[in-house]
Amino acid sequence: MKKIAVFTSGGDAPGMNACLRAVVRTGIARGVEMYGVYRGYEGMIEGDIEPMQARDVSNIIQKGGTVLKSARSEAFRTVEGRAEAFHQLEKRGIEGLVVIGGDGSFRGAQVFHEEYGIRVMGCPGTIDNDLFGTDHTIGFDTAVNTVVDAVDKIRDTATSHGRMFIIEVMGRDAGFIALHSGIVTGAEAILIPETVTYIDELIELLKSGWNRKKSSAIVIVAEGDDAGGAFDVAEKVNERFDKYDTRVVVLGHIQRGGSPSAHDRLIGSRMGHSAIMELLAGRNCEMVGVVHNQIRFTPFSKATKFHTSIDHQLLDLAAVLSS
Ligand code: F6P
Repeated sequence: MKKIAVFTSGGDAPGMNACLRAVVRTGIARGVEMYGVYRGYEGMIEGDIEPMQARDVSNIIQKGGTVLKSARSEAFRTVEGRAEAFHQLEKRGIEGLVVIGGDGSFRGAQVFHEEYGIRVMGCPGTIDNDLFGTDHTIGFDTAVNTVVDAVDKIRDTATSHGRMFIIEVMGRDAGFIALHSGIVTGAEAILIPETVTYIDELIELLKSGWNRKKSSAIVIVAEGDDAGGAFDVAEKVNERFDKYDTRVVVLGHIQRGGSPSAHDRLIGSRMGHSAIMELLAGRNCEMVGVVHNQIRFTPFSKATKFHTSIDHQLLDLAAVLSS
């Protein structure tokens, strides 16, 4: 394989740049001509594809976002869009791809391979941590740290005023960001989509804290929780328990930005390196993951179909430690 293109796709995640750098430099070290596709599948269709040298990825390992930019492409979902994308690659002689993205990006890559035979390897880049086959996705650790920083600050003002804050975090339909950040900020309650939320139980828990003279309360709500978002939860709780003056905070896209943590830079670098090595060795349509600190490979079909399950011991831990 003489020419490989790399692109970032879907929601950006801190550490994507570290992964991109590893892909480009490993490819060049192995004698491959490397290309960068700008704006994901959208840019591929439009031919926004440039050769990449080692110096093009200098000074990016510490940067959040993605220097290749990203997009969610509707056009690539169509037969015509994929045909044009393939045409753009073919005319440059590009034979292999590395996609850094989430489940939608991997599903697109699988279809693309089935239609045109182009070989692809994937690196899991998403803050949601919702891919099966890796302990952590690139960006998850940084996002959790961003949430922790914000919640610690909110706790200061919550305690000063004796208030309750209902804080919504991202994660799409997964609760990993909520669970991990909730434990390490000492949240009184953590609501995640993987478990059913009973508002009655939540109210009892908050009442019990109030009776035990807790000076503030923090409830972390994953955006995909079955009870709704933070505003819905606040409304349902306040109807029946209004001892605390309540405020709602939706952290939003702040969770996607910022300089990547050491952990995200490290797994991004390891995964990017491995994606190229394995693509050259003949592997195809698999996601590179890190499981128990070892590089592992999972077919796209499996990585996108299953969820890493929530560790229920962590939920129990959160309940005991926040009492
Ligand atoms: O998948 C990453 C993510 O940040 C999710 O947590 C969130 O639900 C979604 O993307 C937001 O997407 P957008 O940036 O398109 O609004």
